[in-house]
Amino acid sequence: DPQVHFTDPITLSILKEAAKLLSEDQVIAMPTETVYGLASNALSPISIKKIYSVKDRPSDNPLIVHVSSLKMLRSLLPQKENNNVGEIPLIYEQIIKTFWPGPLTILLPKSLLIPSEVTCNQSTVAMRFPSHPITRALISLCGFPLAAPSANASGRPSPTLASHVLMDLNGKISLIIDGGQCNHGVESTVFDAIGPQAPVILRPGGITFESLRRMPGMENLKVYNKDFVDKKLEMVPTTPGMKYRHYSPDAQVILVDVNDKHKSRDIMKREIRQIEENGEKTIGILATRTSYITSNEENERKNVKIISNDDRVHSNVKSISQGTIRIIEYTLGDSTHPEQIAKELFKGLRYLDERNVDCIIVEGIPEKNEGLAIMNRLRKAASKIIDE
Ligand code: TXA
Ligand code: MG
Repeated sequence: DPQVHFTDPITLSILKEAAKLLSEDQVIAMPTETVYGLASNALSPISIKKIYSVKDRPSDNPLIVHVSSLKMLRSLLPQKENNNVGEIPLIYEQIIKTFWPGPLTILLPKSLLIPSEVTCNQSTVAMRFPSHPITRALISLCGFPLAAPSANASGRPSPTLASHVLMDLNGKISLIIDGGQCNHGVESTVFDAIGPQAPVILRPGGITFESLRRMPGMENLKVYNKDFVDKKLEMVPTTPGMKYRHYSPDAQVILVDVNDKHKSRDIMKREIRQIEENGEKTIGILATRTSYITSNEENERKNVKIISNDDRVHSNVKSISQGTIRIIEYTLGDSTHPEQIAKELFKGLRYLDERNVDCIIVEGIPEKNEGLAIMNRLRKAASKIIDE
C-alpha cells in the first residue's frame, strides 16, 4: 500500500482523527477528485446503515467501495480455491492500468467479505481507486476500504466544496475534511465490463466515453439510457440509482437543450419574458462563457447596469434588475472546454439556489467528452426540458 505522503503535521493529524472515527463505525465527509464523499467502513454493516440514514438515501441504491491499492482490491474479490487473493477479470486489466487511480468505477463480482448492505443484494460490487491524495492517504491509514456515496442529502446536487456538505449534513456527521474545490466536479464514470449488456457505461462521469472506447475490446461500448432507452433497445442493465430524482436544487430547473447557440439564447430570452409575465421573480441563469446578460441586445439597448455585489468574490457572477425581475447569472465556463463546465456545474446550481432564485434556466452544451456527463446530470435535475 502506498505510504501516507503528507509531511504536513496538521493534515496528518486530521487524517488520523478521521481514521479513528471510521474505525469506530462513524461516518465522515472527505474530498475526492470527483465530488465530496460520505465515507464509512465498507466492511461494517453498522457503518453502512449510518450512511443511508445520514443521507436519507433509498435503501435499494448500492454504494461504491473505495480502495487505495490493487492489493486491497484483490483482497476483496471472490477467491479461487487454493489461493487467497481474488483475480481481477482480464477485461479490466488495461483499463485499470490506464485510468486508475482516477474517476472510474468498475463493477466486479461480489465476495462474501462485502456486506449485502453495500450492494443492496446485487451480485456485483462497484469499486473505485480514487486519485485524490487525501482520499488515498485516508483509506491507506484505515487499512480497510471505504464505502462512499456523494456527501449530499439525497436528491440534492453533489457537493464540490466542503461548505456544500456542511449545508446539507450539518449536525449529522462529526467531521468534514476540507480539501478545497473538487477537480472534476461530476461523479466517477460507472462502467460494467462483465454483465449481460457489457461493455456499458451505466453512469457517464469523469472518464469520458471517448477515452474508454479507445481501449482494446471496447469498440462496441454502449451508454445506458442513450443507447438503451432512446433507441428503445430491450432490457436495461441494473443501475438502481438511475430511477431517482437527482441533482435537484430547490429552484425549478429549466434546461434549454438546443444545439444552435443563437436559437438557444432566443429560447432563454423567451422563457425569461414568460416568467416575467407571471409576476415578480428572481431568475438564475447558468450559461457558458459568453455571458447571457451582457450579450443580450435588449439589455444593451436599455443600457442596463450590472449591479452584482457578488462580482468582488465571484468574477463569474453578474446580476441585473430588469422590469419586475432580477436576473443572476453564473458563468460555468467555455463550452469548448466541458471539463471546466463540469467543475463548476453543481457549484453553480447550489450558488443560485442559496440566493433563493425561483427558477434556474440552464444553457445545454454538446454531449462531447465531459459534456455527456454534464447533460446527464442536467436532464435529471431539470423539471422542464426544451429541445425544440
Ligand atoms: O465519484 C464518485 O463516484 C463519488 C465519489 C464520492 O467517489 N461517489 C458517488 O457515489 O457518486 P453515489 O452513491 O452517489 O453513486 C453511486 C452510483 C449509483 O448510481 C449506484 O446506483 C451505482 O453507482 N452503483 C453502485 N453499485 C452498483 C452495482 N453493483 N451495480 C450497478 N450500479 C451500482
Ligand atoms: Mg450521488
